[in-house]
Amino acid sequence: MARSALIENATLLAEARVGGRRRRDDSFPPIAPGPGRSCGAGPLSVPRLACGAGSATIGGASISDFVPVPRYPATISSRLPQVGTTIFTVMSRLANECGAINLSQGFPDFSAADALFELVARHMRAGHNQYAPMAGAAPLREAIAAKVEELYGARYDPEAEITVTAGATQAIFTAVAAMVHPGDEVIVFEPVYDSYVPSIELNGGTARYARLRFPDYRPDWSEVRALVSPRTRMIIVNTPHNPSGTVWSAADMEELERITRDTGIVVVADEVYEHIVFDRNTRQCRHESAARYPALAERTFIVSSFGKTYHVTGWKIGYVLAPRELTTEFRKAHQYIVFAVNHPVQLALAEFVAQRERYLGLADFYQAKRDFFRAQLEGSRFRLLACAGTYFQLAGFEAIADEPDVAFAERLTREVGVAAIPVSVFYREPVDHKVIRFCFAKSENTLAAAGERLRRV
Ligand SMILES: Cc1ncc(COP(=O)(O)O)c(C=O)c1O
Repeated sequence: MARSALIENATLLAEARVGGRRRRDDSFPPIAPGPGRSCGAGPLSVPRLACGAGSATIGGASISDFVPVPRYPATISSRLPQVGTTIFTVMSRLANECGAINLSQGFPDFSAADALFELVARHMRAGHNQYAPMAGAAPLREAIAAKVEELYGARYDPEAEITVTAGATQAIFTAVAAMVHPGDEVIVFEPVYDSYVPSIELNGGTARYARLRFPDYRPDWSEVRALVSPRTRMIIVNTPHNPSGTVWSAADMEELERITRDTGIVVVADEVYEHIVFDRNTRQCRHESAARYPALAERTFIVSSFGKTYHVTGWKIGYVLAPRELTTEFRKAHQYIVFAVNHPVQLALAEFVAQRERYLGLADFYQAKRDFFRAQLEGSRFRLLACAGTYFQLAGFEAIADEPDVAFAERLTREVGVAAIPVSVFYREPVDHKVIRFCFAKSENTLAAAGERLRRV
């Protein structure tokens, strides 16, 4: 189970924090302390539990000795028994505790445009602070329709085929809740984004796993074909892909179209990084939205996220495009899961989406960051994998250590002061290619400081 990896990894780190039960791995070469490190201060001779907040005490007694803490008295039969705290939360927390540069979780450390904040404030002051329409504010749905038509040549009806959601995560969950019946199977691709499988299992479905081939992380369509059965209800795809940075080709989309043709299978296309595709001039590479493929689009929920496009991941706002029959089912679930999404933000985004240069410039913006970060790692012992899209860079560390990637990522945080995500956690059974994921959606100062530390490893 993918989550078993997450929980195991989270547990390993938690154990390291509270109990120090894990053996130290001496294969990692000692690293000279770097500036700004506040945890694991010495190299390997320092106990690994040097950081982490202890519980608060008064005169030696725990605060919980004085304040009654409510406890659930019965046994919980968990709907998600394998799930623990996600590795993203664990690594970000560890990075905070250690004062490490956090290149683990995928969010920018720079601000969104002031103009966007001003628009939101304007709509708040104008009194748009009550519930938005269930499907989304009309101006935003119209702006999305115009944008999608211009970019991908597909016309979606704002009234019946576009729904604004509380981010991509809710959109994906809702699509699964609306379409997957208990006993249905859903095909996902490993390494798999962490919300997909819990969404499937909470709704009574079963995940079937296709592997993206290492090291190029391309789909193996014969494997996918072999997984399709009469029980297959849905296939969830993600391009550009987190964590690998792979961008699917037209040939991939055509394969998906062929495999699903004449079946009752629906597709969820997670396209949250649609505007972050690199090397478009040199490699003729573009985002292959499912919207470009009419025979695919007719069975697909296309999911996007304004959080990724406008550097506001904390706003949790996105949208879903789907044919009217699918949208009808989607909205039946949507109206009881979230009903409606932040109203003034929707109205602000309606105006912002109309400013084409904002999203058309995003690929160049992040390509410069990718190139800058890769240049920082030149001369290091990390092996950089290809990165065609997203804001994630994978790096192999086999020349540095032969320990598991989770242990390596943890030590990198504690001893070098740079946090990253071990890629094995994106697999059901941990598959360890000795690869970690760095997020380069950071200011040049942050990336330069991280590069300076990583070159010393
Ligand atoms: C592939 C992928 N899908 C979905 C999401 C979630 O997007 P949102 O924050 O809009 O829910 C993320 C966020 O990291 C992601 O990487």
